[in-house]
Amino acid sequence: MAFNLFAAEDRILEEAEALRLRVADQPEEVRDGVVALMEAFRRSVREQRRLVKVSDRLQGQLANLNHELERRRTEAEDALARLEETQANLVQSEKLASLGALVAGVAHEINTPVGIALSCASHLDDAVREMRRLFEADDIAIDEFERFMATAGDTSRLVLANCERAAALIRSFKQVAVDRTSAERRPFDVAASVRETMSSLSPGLRLGGHTVELDCQPGVSVDGFPGALSQILTNLVMNSVVHAYEPGRRGRLSLVVRLEGELVRLVYSDDGKGIPETNLKRIFDPFFTTRRGSGGAGLGLHIAYNLATGPLAGTLSCDSTVGHGTTFTVLFPKVAPETAPR
Ligand SMILES: Nc1ncnc2c1ncn2[C@@H]1O[C@H](COP(=O)(O)OP(=O)(O)O)[C@@H](O)[C@H]1O
Ligand SMILES: [Mg+2]
Repeated sequence: MAFNLFAAEDRILEEAEALRLRVADQPEEVRDGVVALMEAFRRSVREQRRLVKVSDRLQGQLANLNHELERRRTEAEDALARLEETQANLVQSEKLASLGALVAGVAHEINTPVGIALSCASHLDDAVREMRRLFEADDIAIDEFERFMATAGDTSRLVLANCERAAALIRSFKQVAVDRTSAERRPFDVAASVRETMSSLSPGLRLGGHTVELDCQPGVSVDGFPGALSQILTNLVMNSVVHAYEPGRRGRLSLVVRLEGELVRLVYSDDGKGIPETNLKRIFDPFFTTRRGSGGAGLGLHIAYNLATGPLAGTLSCDSTVGHGTTFTVLFPKVAPETAPR
């Protein structure tokens, strides 16, 4: 393009030179006029060529910039891909770590009752053996027999209690490991499901003299996992019964369900003794319990948390003030995503 333009200009300059020679015999002002025109044209050609050069340089710079931009875009894309991969790895290792902690915890927890049951059983075995020896020697004194009966009663009760405790731990462990993908998914009415769950819990609540105030927005139908929701609610209510009140204190529990756009908000509160701030950070950890040794496995809230963030694809949070009570909020989408995050 510039090349053609330059050639045409050169031709014009040649023609102008020829013209200048042809007007050599013309009056001075004509000759001067031609020369002045040629000069002007030359200047303009020079200026034009300079501009063409500048424009070429600018074009080159633009191409470089585009190239650089493209390189940076690819770099940014690569970085994003790496970041996503790292994030996925972190999530995975976090899951493995929590699974590892869980398995170690289960082994540790089950160890105690199984160990106690074992030593009781062996103690009982010794006592029976001794009794058999005395029996065969026909040498059983009445007080010896009474002592034996007392030992046998105590130890078998201990064996039974500890085996029950181990069985309960195994049951809660099975709940944790529940395969979420196989949990039943279906459309359901939240208010109806919540009422059902609460009525299944009402014998336990009545026993403690607790009352429940239900405020469920009617007609909120969702597509998701009713089993998970019911399990979460059960764990929360059972916790209020077990942890929130001193024996004899009657509690007021409340449950509010609302639809907020595409989200369902479930707010559950008790007016019990609350959870101290230092514990609040740990209540969702597996095996965190303030009731060790008296029935607590510390898995209830861990299970609830996993169900809320897993199948329900939502959140579970807790607010509590010591002396005033505890509030749990479950927030989850009306329609659970196709592939519930694991
Ligand atoms: N409603 C509540 N009021 C007071 N404390 C609670 C309440 N819910 C849970 N907690 C505290 O959180 C801990 C963990 O609860 P959870 O995971 O269900 O285990 P567990 O019930 O077996 O102790 C409990 O031991 C208790 O200290
Ligand atoms: Mg519990």
